Amino acid sequence: MILIFATNNQHKVDEIKSVVTNGIDIVTLKDAGIDIDIPEPHDTLEANATEKSSTIHKMTQQNCFSEDTGLEVFSLNGEPGVKSARYAGEGRDFQANIDKLLVNLAGDTDRSAQFRTVISLIWNNKEYLFEGICKGHIISEQKGGKGFGYDPVFVPEGSDKTFAEMTMEEKNKYSHRRKAMDKLLAFLKESI
Ligand code: IMP
Repeated sequence: MILIFATNNQHKVDEIKSVVTNGIDIVTLKDAGIDIDIPEPHDTLEANATEKSSTIHKMTQQNCFSEDTGLEVFSLNGEPGVKSARYAGEGRDFQANIDKLLVNLAGDTDRSAQFRTVISLIWNNKEYLFEGICKGHIISEQKGGKGFGYDPVFVPEGSDKTFAEMTMEEKNKYSHRRKAMDKLLAFLKESI
């Protein structure tokens, strides 16, 4: 079974492909020959995920899914949240985003945070949403060179390593994206 994953982020593709079971062929936008940068104009993860999946569904008429993820920091009232990619500006620069986050958190004793992923699946012309949350905290200095985005400053509950110090398999034990994807896979198992 073919499922288009509406993203241009290769890190996300690698993470999702590593948890998908046999019988599901994940096709990326690049694989499908679709070269677009789908806008994320909304103020919720849900609406942005829907925007991305419905754009690709309109173009291809095929079953597809997208995901939108935000880092929600409690002492910053949930920021950067839906603005995670562009926290420090339109450049979507991972390092600039981390720098801004650490400046905004300087002196804060409550450094608790969570990653939240929302997946929008369009399956047989109907939309289904799946959520995955990973709770943890933000450390004050970057550690590790793997992963992407805020991984070097995020330590998930139950570990003393940042996501950037983990292999993909280790990150997948805790990851928000993995949890949302597990729900999607369980849904497909029931629906096929
Ligand atoms: P997007 O809008 O879903 O592509 O993601 C928003 C931003 O959140 C990305 O640009 C990353 O900075 C960050 N992000 C999303 N997922 C992760 C993750 O698994 N680890 C670290 N940062 C992430």
